[in-house]
Amino acid sequence: MTDKYAVIGNPVAHSKSPQIHKMFAEQTGQDISYEAILAPLDGFSAKVTWLRNEGYKGCNVTVPFKHEAWRIGASTARALDAQAVNTLKFADGKIFGDNTDGVGLVTDIENNLNTPLKSKSILLIGAGGAAYGVLHSLLEAFPSSLVIYNRTLEKALSLKKSIELHDRFRHFSLKTVEFGKLGNAQFDVVINATSAGLTGNEIPLPSTVFAPAALAYDMMYGLETPFMRFAREQGAAVVADGLGMLVEQAAEAFFIWRNVRPKTAPVIAALRKQQ
Ligand code: ATR
Repeated sequence: MTDKYAVIGNPVAHSKSPQIHKMFAEQTGQDISYEAILAPLDGFSAKVTWLRNEGYKGCNVTVPFKHEAWRIGASTARALDAQAVNTLKFADGKIFGDNTDGVGLVTDIENNLNTPLKSKSILLIGAGGAAYGVLHSLLEAFPSSLVIYNRTLEKALSLKKSIELHDRFRHFSLKTVEFGKLGNAQFDVVINATSAGLTGNEIPLPSTVFAPAALAYDMMYGLETPFMRFAREQGAAVVADGLGMLVEQAAEAFFIWRNVRPKTAPVIAALRKQQ
């Protein structure tokens, strides 16, 4: 019998997840279906209950429900770190919540973009849900330093505090800097986790921000953001959007559900062709 999965969001029609999971299923011979389901803004948990009653085996969770999903069921350590869940598994009458965004980002950077993060200096721009989702995974890759750079300093400080609550991150000295105060600091890896690209807004960055051989990574995909343009102009060695992260986080969710790891490179290449 075909096992049913879905992604719940609002909006959700634009989601590439059904296409990605269809490609994973074909490639691995797994008998699954996967569809996009719109939930009303106040109807997320009711929709999850409906899915379970209908016999679905799990779902992905996207904007704006990831934080709410964290409160449903039992969460893994990485979901607790992120305070957000993007993958729910329904098994043995229970709900398990996980977050695969962070591992998706790190896998894309390290494996697909050939940039090991160990001993690198990282600038993480943003302190909203997207930044919460990935910070713990970035630290687990043992960078030499990490600076959180955000328009609103208080939010950067809250993100730093949420990480420092965990024993395993105690040894990291995270720094926070508000927009406009970076001076001439340089970084090996600069990651944009803000939503500024959606509105075409520029992020104030000094022209010296990219170290030689730097990677500039925007977690957005499907458009060239002002951040990516700036990085190209300033000569960042590699400039990437978040398409690879999208596919890698999906692969991790597929593994959680099916215990099978799909190959991601052909799926990234297929989606890239459509852009
Ligand atoms: P999400 O959950 O998608 O990350 P969010 O929690 O609203 O959304 O956070 C959005 C992030 O993008 C924040 O870091 C926000 O900065 P503030 O904390 O100062 O609000 C950042 N952001 C959004 N629009 C921006 C813009 N036009 N310029 C710079 N930063 C922006």
